[in-house]
Amino acid sequence: KTGSVPHRPQFHFSPKAHWMNDPNGMLYLNGTYHLFFQYYPDATVWGPMHWGHATSKDMLHWQELPIALYPDSLGWIFSGSAVVDVNNTSGFGKDGKTPLVAIFTHHNDKLEKAKSDKFQYQSLAYSLDEGKTWTKYAGNPVLPNPGITDFRDPKVRWYAPQKKWIMTLATKDRITFYSSPNLKNWTRESDFGKDLGAHGGVWECPDLLPMTHNGKQAWVLLVSINPGGPNGGSATQYFVGDFDGKTFKPYSTKTKWMDYGTDNYAGVTFSNTGNRTILMGWMSNWQYARDVPTDPWRSANTVPRELSLREVDKELYLTSTPIKELDKLNGKTTSLSNVPVKGQYDVSAKTGQKSALFKLALSVPAVNDFSVVLANEQGNELVIGYEKSTNSYYIDRSKSGKTDFEKGFGKRHTAPRIATGNTLSLTLVADVASVELFADGGLTVMTDIFFPNQPLNKLYIKSATGISISGLFTPLTKAVQ
Ligand code: FRU
Repeated sequence: KTGSVPHRPQFHFSPKAHWMNDPNGMLYLNGTYHLFFQYYPDATVWGPMHWGHATSKDMLHWQELPIALYPDSLGWIFSGSAVVDVNNTSGFGKDGKTPLVAIFTHHNDKLEKAKSDKFQYQSLAYSLDEGKTWTKYAGNPVLPNPGITDFRDPKVRWYAPQKKWIMTLATKDRITFYSSPNLKNWTRESDFGKDLGAHGGVWECPDLLPMTHNGKQAWVLLVSINPGGPNGGSATQYFVGDFDGKTFKPYSTKTKWMDYGTDNYAGVTFSNTGNRTILMGWMSNWQYARDVPTDPWRSANTVPRELSLREVDKELYLTSTPIKELDKLNGKTTSLSNVPVKGQYDVSAKTGQKSALFKLALSVPAVNDFSVVLANEQGNELVIGYEKSTNSYYIDRSKSGKTDFEKGFGKRHTAPRIATGNTLSLTLVADVASVELFADGGLTVMTDIFFPNQPLNKLYIKSATGISISGLFTPLTKAVQ
């Protein structure tokens, strides 16, 4: 039983034991979602990386499986992606079996120690049994290092108009696009971003996604950076533009953040999900991931999110909302209708809720400050709110319990409101040790983790000046054993 351990998420994926970071190689195949992840099975801190593996029918109930990829003579197994090679372009398919192909970075620790700048390169592994077992390609690496110290995290997708694979690769302070007919031979197409976007840290874990907006195709380029996030540490920025199989051209030079919270990093999308664009991120931050007070594991993933585009003031923005599957965990909803809140309104008394395992959807006029407070008898408090004077959302975890394991952890994080309407709409998803705020249809998103000294079993809505709120409170049932 892992479900009853303190701070254990109840429907977010976390490994039973040991260290996890980035989600890798996520794909959908024959009714099953596969998650691979950066995993170190010998400790609760980062170390020689493997690809752990878990599967799920709904991205909420996960089953952890044996490790998929182990380090080898070429190096540790860093982040990367996986594709369903339907046309067997790689030739790895046999007896009519479609190969799954993983494209990952080999990180060669010995070369790094020897001060070489060529210690990261891209390699392949394939599976002919739906991801259960993997064979590394004998011709690895398929993309050797040209002399760039940070050369990693290949995200590969099929580019149908030109019948070729596109690899989006993080190359230190920019993205480099490569193409290939067969996943084995790669040609450099172009570079993007050296002089654009945020550069507070190295660029990592990119993804390039086709999306539609008003019937027109646009491409979204996700780029994680560490450090340099809007509230400190690691975070994910994005660009919206055009891609022609060779070059990515952004529509705008504005720096945009997928999530203003501190705990959504290295997020990428699942392959092979048809019209759905589903992202899952690592729900932690390099600033303190190694120090968080959980045992015997470290880290969880965000709730999977559906991505779309929305226009505000002539700019295209990404929106993220929890996958619709989350509704399967719904308990009995209580509706709050035009509740006047002046001072404090006790949601737990109204609903009988005694745990931080719920979804709360609120609709509030954008006229005054208000906050949602998760609390316990010990005075631990996690506050999510809106501040009228700055037109911003915030999450304050400074009094949330255990905060002193890292000096920057116990802070208040802020995010601008991007939407312009008169009514704020907020969806909060709480799962024991995390809260995810999807404001205004997912235009402004904040994900924060926290570690109370005992469970947060009270829920209040507060407003000093007074507001009227409407909404739905829904307890969620746990998905872990
Ligand atoms: C991002 C990252 C990747 C790298 C992996 C190593 O969190 O630094 O760039 O491949 O983690 O575990």
